[in-house]
Amino acid sequence: MAKVKQGPGSFLFPMPVVLVGANVKGKANFLSIAYVGIVGHAPPMIEVAIRKNRFSSDGIKENKAFSVNAASAAMVEATDYCGIYSGAKVDKSQVFEVFYGELRTAPMIEESPFNLECKLAKVLDLGGSHEVFIGEIVEAYSSEDYLSDGRPDLAKIEPIVYDGGSLSYWTLRDKLAHAFQIGKDYQP
Ligand SMILES: Cc1cc2nc3c(=O)[nH]c(=O)nc-3n(C[C@H](O)[C@H](O)[C@H](O)COP(=O)(O)O)c2cc1C
Repeated sequence: MAKVKQGPGSFLFPMPVVLVGANVKGKANFLSIAYVGIVGHAPPMIEVAIRKNRFSSDGIKENKAFSVNAASAAMVEATDYCGIYSGAKVDKSQVFEVFYGELRTAPMIEESPFNLECKLAKVLDLGGSHEVFIGEIVEAYSSEDYLSDGRPDLAKIEPIVYDGGSLSYWTLRDKLAHAFQIGKDYQP
């Protein structure tokens, strides 16, 4: 099949959207992030890439803490809002109901189905547009309504997926197969 070059863009399919929480000047602030990923298992680590000098960045560095909150389909308007407007211009502390965990300075979103409370482990400057904030996940919180058999249920969470090409938000659809099982007897 012919390949059509798209240029060296930051493509990834699917690209989830999450809400990153930080206390800035003593107030909770949330920004929408698509550049997010798990980078370790033991201890559990996550990265969020934030454009240099964003309002949230100082708060994360000052408190050495941040949160990563799942954005579900029901939260799409509020998520877009937090990705359009900066805390430097508007007060985003009232957009969501906020709760705190053991770190005390990583604001988390009550109405989000799933929250990760993170202790800042490292800030990486790769020389480009963004800084990479790496956090150790010290606790994960799941809202009861989004669990099945005690475990987070992706179908209930309905995470938002971002398509940078068409500037649109999507949801995921069906479960495809069992992981670590469907490929067992595959004959390449
Ligand atoms: C769908 C979407 C994805 C975004 N992803 C990122 C991202 O990965 N990194 C980033 O620095 N900004 C990203 N932004 C932009 C920030 O969310 C936006 O600039 C926000 O207003 C910054 O908030 P703050 O100034 O209060 O920190 C995204 C915005 C949207 C709408």
